[in-house]
Order: sequence, then structure tokens, then C-alpha cells
Amino acid sequence: MRLVIKPDYLSISKWLSDYVVEKILQSNKIKDKFFVLGLPTGSSSLGMYNCLIKHYQNKVISFKNVVTFNMDEYIGLPKEHPESYHSFMWKNFFNHVDILPENVNILDGNAVDLDIECEIFEKKIKKVCGIDIFIGGIGINGHIAFNEPGSSFSSRTRIKTLTQDTIISNSRFFENNIQKVPKQVLTVGIGTILDSEEVLIIISGHNKARILSQVIEGSVSQMYPVTALQLHKKSVIVCDEAATAELKVGTYRYFKELE
Ligand code: GLP
Repeated sequence: MRLVIKPDYLSISKWLSDYVVEKILQSNKIKDKFFVLGLPTGSSSLGMYNCLIKHYQNKVISFKNVVTFNMDEYIGLPKEHPESYHSFMWKNFFNHVDILPENVNILDGNAVDLDIECEIFEKKIKKVCGIDIFIGGIGINGHIAFNEPGSSFSSRTRIKTLTQDTIISNSRFFENNIQKVPKQVLTVGIGTILDSEEVLIIISGHNKARILSQVIEGSVSQMYPVTALQLHKKSVIVCDEAATAELKVGTYRYFKELE
């Protein structure tokens, strides 16, 4: 696992967007190749989306050859609701770049048959030969996408029930009212994420320091879903200095010197 430590949130966002742009440009050299991105929502990803939009506006990159799969969505929240992940993605990214709407894949939390919706999502990922880079944020309880503690490392896209921790944490987007937070979600599985060629995880801020030390220095455990990345052949954690507060000095120095 690679750990990239940057001074602050802005530097993380720039690093991630530059990395993704470079990968898309490389992939564009291959005829008829689509670049497949797995994308997150959440405040940690906003800076990266802003930087990607700037690269598009400066004509550095086009998203015409990019296919995206979002990692999760609330069940029962209308697509038009300002806090649905459909709204988040279009408002914060897709509306500002030249991605083709037919290349955007977001789970439908209002599908008539949610199990079939999940199966179709997995089939679509297979059809494009898998995800090139999966980018994720992280919950304070170590969840990736909405894979809550206890999720199986071989799980695929499915229905999940949120933990009280996540409901309380996400209530900041629902007027701090936990009653308004949907209790169930659709999410890609940990197995779905591990199948990607590369996984990039953003860990920013002091409140994520404990989980960063767990993923870098702790043992693999289904109670910390993000630790599944220790089993992945090419995973990168990108964090800021604030998130390193709980790392051992030796660990911190080692990764700093490597970069
Ligand atoms: C939600 C999303 C996760 C995301 C997490 C962190 O729970 N389902 O995919 O990683 O929020 O959000 P933030 O970046 O706002 O801390």
C-alpha cells in the first residue's frame, strides 16, 4: 500500500486530480479504450472535483472517453432531492464537464426491484471490463462506500443498513435531523472495489486520524472495512498532515521519505 502525505486538503485535491488526469491521458493513447472511474460523494471528494473541472476548462482533459460508476446511493430518496448522490454528482461534477450522460452510472435507490438494480450494476461494470481507478472517501467508522463495519470483504453491490454512527455523521447534510437520513442504501461491495485495477482513498482531517493509523498500521479486520485495501495489489491512501496525528513517528517518516 502506498501512503501519500500532503500538507493540506487543497494539495490532496490537486494531487488526486493530476493523477487521474494523467491516467486518462495515457489511456486515450489506446484506440477505442474507455477509461473507467469509480467515484465517491462526500465532502472529501469536492476539492478533487473542483480541480478536475478546472483541468477541463483549461482544455487539459476531456471526459468524452470516460465511463463512471458511483459507489453508492440512498434508498428511497428522490433523485431530485438535493442530498441524493445523483444530485451531488451532477451539481458538483458532471454538469461542468463534457462527460456523456449515457456513460454515467449511478445506482437507482428508487428502483422497483433493488436486488435486480444491484445485479445490473455489477453486470455493467463487467461489460466495460472492470474499473480502472476506484476513488473513495472514508467514514469515521472506517466504511468505504457504504460498506459498514462487519461487511464481508467478498461482498458485491447490494442493500445495506446504515449504522447509527453513519446516520449521525450524515445528518449534517439533513439539517442535523437524524430522522431525515435514509436508513438504507445501495452500495458497491468491498469485493467490487477490490476488483478494480487501482484504488485511491482520500483521508483528510484530524477526525480521520484514528482510522488512518488503523488502515496503515492495524490488522485487516471486517470491523474496519477500509483495511481490506491492505489486500489490494495497488491501493493508494492520500492524506493530509492533520490525518497523520495518530501514526507512529517511524511510519510517518518512512512514507514521507518514500514520496
Ligand atoms: C458517505 C459516503 C462515503 C464517504 C463518506 C465520507 O458516508 N457514502 O462514500 O466516504 O460519506 O464523507 P466525507 O468525505 O464527507 O467525510
